[in-house]
Amino acid sequence: MNYNPYNILFIKTSNYNIKPINSEEAYKVRHPVLREGKPIESCVFDGDDFETTIHLGLYYKTKLVGVCSFLKNNHDAISETAQYQLRGMAVLEKYQGKGLGNSILDYGENLLKKKDSQIIWCNAREVAVYFYQKCGYSIIGQPFNIKYIGMHYIMQKKILK
Ligand SMILES: CC(C)(COP(=O)(O)OP(=O)(O)OC[C@H]1O[C@@H](n2cnc3c(N)ncnc32)[C@H](O)[C@@H]1OP(=O)(O)O)[C@@H](O)C(=O)NCCC(=O)NCCS
Repeated sequence: MNYNPYNILFIKTSNYNIKPINSEEAYKVRHPVLREGKPIESCVFDGDDFETTIHLGLYYKTKLVGVCSFLKNNHDAISETAQYQLRGMAVLEKYQGKGLGNSILDYGENLLKKKDSQIIWCNAREVAVYFYQKCGYSIIGQPFNIKYIGMHYIMQKKILK
């Protein structure tokens, strides 16, 4: 069983709700959490508005408190053909550490399984590596530096056996 004490059952039986959103909604959480103090344009990722891109929002009542995005993008170091890249994983500070990041990720993984995606990968910030490990992701390859943001690790999770 996946680690996830607050999984979809928790979401269904609480004031929390996960649903697809558009890119502009996603910026509302990306901005304060991942690009604080930077212009809003810095929140825009290539491919944000592609038809294949999925943005998910996690709401507490009517307030958007967590987001993540899945972009159809293959990594050279990964052999599976049906890949999605996870980007913009963010939960508002006040809501962190409650299992919400894990829940929204879990929800996205189930959605992508239904689309026959085989693997999800991401460039994880060093501070988030433990979070991704807890969610079943593992490091591949060598860490690398992204200017102004810091060290990153490529992490992957096979979702289709
Ligand atoms: C990383 C992030 C999305 C995780 O969401 P969250 O809702 O806080 O995480 P959860 O409560 O679901 O945590 C699941 C597990 O990961 C751990 N974890 C979460 N964030 C962590 C962090 N920054 N450092 C270490 N462990 C972390 C939790 O402690 C928990 O493990 P535990 O059960 O052993 O305590 C959120 O903390 C966040 O938005 N951080 C700032 C932005 C960021 O770094 N995004 C990732 C970019 S690659």
